Amino acid sequence: MPDRHISGTLSNLIKIVKPIIIENKIKSFSKVINVDSDKSISIRWVLFASQAVGKSTAYNLLMSEDVLSALACLKKLGIKVILNKNKCEIYGNGINGFNYKKNIILNAGNSGTLGRLILPLLLKSPVKVKLLGDKSLSKRDFSRIISPLEQFGAEFFPKNKKNIPLQIKGSNFIRPINYLENKGSAQCKSAVMLGAIHAPGITKIKAKKSRNHTENFFKNLNIPIKIKKNNKYDLIEVYGEKNFKSFNYKIPGDISSSAFFIVLTILLKNSNLIIKKINVNPTRDGIIRILRKMGAKIFYKNVQIYKGEKIADIHVKSSKVIKPINCPPSLNSAAIDEFLIIFLVAAKAKGVSYFKNIEELNEKESKRLNLGSKILNLMGVKTQLTKSSIKIYGQPNLQIKKKCVIKNFLGDHRIMAMCTIAGLSIGGKWEIHNPESINTSFPSFFKILKNKLGAEIN
Ligand code: S3P
Repeated sequence: MPDRHISGTLSNLIKIVKPIIIENKIKSFSKVINVDSDKSISIRWVLFASQAVGKSTAYNLLMSEDVLSALACLKKLGIKVILNKNKCEIYGNGINGFNYKKNIILNAGNSGTLGRLILPLLLKSPVKVKLLGDKSLSKRDFSRIISPLEQFGAEFFPKNKKNIPLQIKGSNFIRPINYLENKGSAQCKSAVMLGAIHAPGITKIKAKKSRNHTENFFKNLNIPIKIKKNNKYDLIEVYGEKNFKSFNYKIPGDISSSAFFIVLTILLKNSNLIIKKINVNPTRDGIIRILRKMGAKIFYKNVQIYKGEKIADIHVKSSKVIKPINCPPSLNSAAIDEFLIIFLVAAKAKGVSYFKNIEELNEKESKRLNLGSKILNLMGVKTQLTKSSIKIYGQPNLQIKKKCVIKNFLGDHRIMAMCTIAGLSIGGKWEIHNPESINTSFPSFFKILKNKLGAEIN
């Protein structure tokens, strides 16, 4: 949970703790909406600002629990943070500018990105710093980060543990490393890039394609970096130990949050939606390319480039017919957080859809591949599941007959939102527990559904 002092300044986090009930579909809508800001960019801005020299300001920083947890961690490391409703100021002291006291405990809450990206900033810590998180984060794999950080020269306690809670101690003798990132994980790539800032000399990374926000931050901040791209991999060289100046950022909308409303529109009849100013960076918009292959009508308007990120208004319309897809694995990384909601579209397709090489889905806030399949089965949709793939037998006239009760999903915000959208677009009776899990990434989710799109949710 985030620091109370920080979260106390905010009112947008939802407070409902009882399950929500959905019994009616939304009829149709034609609307223009905004969604909450990009979580990946928000967390990165907070972390980079903490390493810059001087005051950095962000406008429209995402006010969700994951970002609040990031701010709370930095405060524990002696960084001054001033948070108002639409503006956040962070006063960085440069690289290695943290104030290390004894017994620091950092709580990353539910956030894999925060947990994995804050550790490399501690590479020079003279004391042990403890990192912990919630139940879901404590089950996730940290060995993927521990191993490169040990190569840089950090120590972890207890040794050979793969999960948090654990302690990290840095060293005065950090050395640059050579690192192969083979999972298509932007968190692993970014953790090594952030570690490299603290190492003298050149860190070399060969990374399978994944979201490139960290690279964009490096370029904007003039942190020395070279990137060579080939088909599958990027070769990245980071030149360490160079301070960079403070910077401002207007955070765009989140495509992962937009995804729920895009799919809602596609599945409803006679509906149109415009979602304003969304980050549609090509390393993030896999969902759009997948849905277009499934016949969806989605267009980008008012396209602009801001700090290396592509920003656009997304226009989407209902789909009369949904085509099944044999999803190309080259799109997996760019759609990694959206597969659950894409599975719903596949459930209404005219034929069998196939998604493969998606084992990383079981490494997320919950085991999303397994759980996603179970939810489809509960809805009456046949699936064929392996460790790394799923076949979904779509039914264009799908009618959900049994009541769907959704609980014990480790508070995974995207499982909760997927089920809410299923109830509002496909129908059936739904009882969905832990709606407050949405606070992780998208606190305005229910407000937009009820006040803008006419959802009946009790
Ligand atoms: C993220 C990267 C992805 C994604 C996560 C956010 C990031 O994780 O699932 O929600 O901001 O870098 P992986 O890098 O582990 O695939």
